[in-house]
Amino acid sequence: MEISRDRVDELADKKFAVLAGKELVISPALERSRHELWEDWDTLEPDSYLKKGASFRLRRFGLFSYLPWQDTLTMQPPKPYFQSAQVNAYAGDIQRQFAPLSSASAENPFLQALIRFNFSQFPTDQNQRQQTWTIDVHQFRIIGRPGEVGEPTPEGPHRDGDDFNAIHLVKRENVSGGLNSVYSPDGDLLSSCTLELPMDTVYVWDPYVLHGVSAIKPIDSKRPALRDVLVIGYNCQKK
Ligand SMILES: [Fe+2]
Repeated sequence: MEISRDRVDELADKKFAVLAGKELVISPALERSRHELWEDWDTLEPDSYLKKGASFRLRRFGLFSYLPWQDTLTMQPPKPYFQSAQVNAYAGDIQRQFAPLSSASAENPFLQALIRFNFSQFPTDQNQRQQTWTIDVHQFRIIGRPGEVGEPTPEGPHRDGDDFNAIHLVKRENVSGGLNSVYSPDGDLLSSCTLELPMDTVYVWDPYVLHGVSAIKPIDSKRPALRDVLVIGYNCQKK
């Protein structure tokens, strides 16, 4: 997996970077793996931590450890996902137990190549590259229905609490809205874009900027709006 223009310098400079999916050069074998992985979005399970019985978000969550100096990526046993209330006012300070990533997805060659490729785009220093990293893999499906808008980020502009994160579009179907935005720490809008095609990506150097996504609703009200996203969070264990 490669691109003609790495995003390392842009991320270091602006603290975020956008990548069009069509810029990615992916081998035919990895493309097949990508399609297999994408099919797994039909198996996601309800997010039971939404407020007021809302049902607009389905998800799965998996954990890996990554040793960049050895290029070793290892799936870790499922664990609750925790964010402090400081970074997630909507569902922070709760140990959230999500449906786990399937073992087929965890072993998917495209996912594993993508985790490594993203890391190569981050402005890490020599010391960080010698540490162990924890990788959070989140599969999300946001559903917008005529009577219930889908909120990709009900907490509003936020940090994930990671060192870096990658937001990859999987699929966007019958969607109006779903605008990705990046903000300064004070909440000033820096940039917005709509992820339209598979693998359209936003990279965020999370401690330095906030990000958020606007609500979605259906274009054709007879069908739901679906927005499938793969978010991968990267945390250096020794800060
Ligand atoms: Fe986020």
